[in-house]
Amino acid sequence: METGADEPRLGVYTPISREQFVDSELHHPNLVPEAYFLAKREDRYVGHSYLRRVPGQPSALHQGFTGTRREVRGRGIATELKRRAVEYARASGVESIDTSNDSLNQAMLAINAKFGFERFDERVFGERTV
Ligand SMILES: CC(C)(COP(=O)(O)OP(=O)(O)OC[C@H]1O[C@@H](n2cnc3c(N)ncnc32)[C@H](O)[C@@H]1OP(=O)(O)O)[C@@H](O)C(=O)NCCC(=O)NCCS
Repeated sequence: METGADEPRLGVYTPISREQFVDSELHHPNLVPEAYFLAKREDRYVGHSYLRRVPGQPSALHQGFTGTRREVRGRGIATELKRRAVEYARASGVESIDTSNDSLNQAMLAINAKFGFERFDERVFGERTV
């Protein structure tokens, strides 16, 4: 929840319960447990990044959410988690990884650019508050 709250977005962040997290993330039908990477400092989890299967596309994986806790940012932890994800994908023989980022998310865009992600599609979302 802490990492999710800091992702640029439209509207207000709505935290989910632990139960909802387990249901939606850990029981996700496309989950690849061995491609769910966690960073841990002593007994505290400080970062995560994961890949998921893409239904109908065995040669592709989807890069899911990457996040690090505020107090450890800027130390290369997200980059290392992502490096492991890319390494996993290569070792699995997949040909591509797709992902999506908010255009204001400079840190994530910078990391993705380092790994060779290329922009292929831009979507514009609008919000009207009433
Ligand atoms: C995005 C996020 C995961 C980065 O985590 P991190 O552990 O700080 O990342 P790293 O230290 O590995 O790397 C950060 C990189 O972003 C770059 N960066 C940071 N702010 C930047 C900015 N405003 N403009 C350009 N680059 C920026 C850094 O220079 C660094 O790159 P470098 O190593 O080549 O110098 C973290 O900020 C986060 O959890 N944000 C909230 C959740 C989120 O938005 N996740 C992404 C959802 S897709």
